[in-house]
Amino acid sequence: MNQRHPVRARRALMYMPGDDMHKIQKAISLGVDCVCMDLEDGVAMNRKETARQTIADALRTLDFGRSERLVRINPVGSAFIEDDLRAVLPAHPDGLVVPKVGEAAQLHWLSQKVTEVERKNGWADGEIVLLALIETALGVVNLAEIGRSGPRLQALIFGAEDLAGDIGATRTPQGWEVFYARSAVVIHAAAFGLQAIDIVFMNLHDTDGLRAEARQAAHMAYTGKQVIHPNQVGPVQETFTPSDEAISHARRVVEAAEENQKAGVGAFALDGKMIDAPVVRAAEWVLARARAAGKI
Ligand code: COA
Ligand code: MG
Repeated sequence: MNQRHPVRARRALMYMPGDDMHKIQKAISLGVDCVCMDLEDGVAMNRKETARQTIADALRTLDFGRSERLVRINPVGSAFIEDDLRAVLPAHPDGLVVPKVGEAAQLHWLSQKVTEVERKNGWADGEIVLLALIETALGVVNLAEIGRSGPRLQALIFGAEDLAGDIGATRTPQGWEVFYARSAVVIHAAAFGLQAIDIVFMNLHDTDGLRAEARQAAHMAYTGKQVIHPNQVGPVQETFTPSDEAISHARRVVEAAEENQKAGVGAFALDGKMIDAPVVRAAEWVLARARAAGKI
């Protein structure tokens, strides 16, 4: 198991425009794992300042319950970033989602800014976490340096629409045009002990399609998915939570492996299937995810 951080479930990460207080309240009422209030592409240019104020108000006045309080800022290096940080950081979000990350230096710069605010307010060092959106060609080719950019980073998020826009690809339902990048993100996340959060499913009314895409992501080892509408929260959080059957099977595998290890046996058969170390590790992952989701 290669997990650098205590696991906090981030099965569904829900965006809403930061200038829309109604949607922020709605998201909280859904019990979604992560509420991500947007300052970037979901907010019109002439509404950025309103959005900053609305988000700061929400952070200061609303009870987010069990939901993580995230803010998606504008890209590091953009004209908006200083104003975003000035408005939002003093209101103490749990973390920042950083769009269009292309190189580690952007995260180093941001982390330094966050450190200054943490120290000034007497908050613990590293308390405000970062989640990096990989959604440009540069971000994909620099995944290794981004993944090891520092302890503040907890997750890599893959953005397929922006990547397609960046490289001139056409999005298709099968998604082969972004499949290399989607794989690269999850592999790098695993290599550096980070969570990996999958693409947005754009069709708001196709729940079967959403479930199928989320299942595929879970099979690839993504730990969650970005969502954009209330209808997507339940199906996505369910898909990224191990089922009762998966949990009881994982327990049997782990228990049987322990007994066999004591007896000096590494590989054995259970229900007609071979079990050895990688199968046991996979079962341990199932149990870790179930624990993170509060199911065991
Ligand atoms: N977060 C919280 N609440 C949301 C929501 C979201 N992302 N999307 C919709 N809702 C709410 C609506 O406000 C509405 O609430 P109400 O019934 O209390 O009035 C309810 O859910 C039903 O919404 P619906 O009418 O089906 O959708 P819509 O047409 O109002 O909105 C979108 C469609 C796409 C504009 C909306 O889903 C949205 O804003 N999504 C997020 C966009 C975003 O943040 N993009 C940037 C990141 S990719
Ligand atoms: Mg985008």
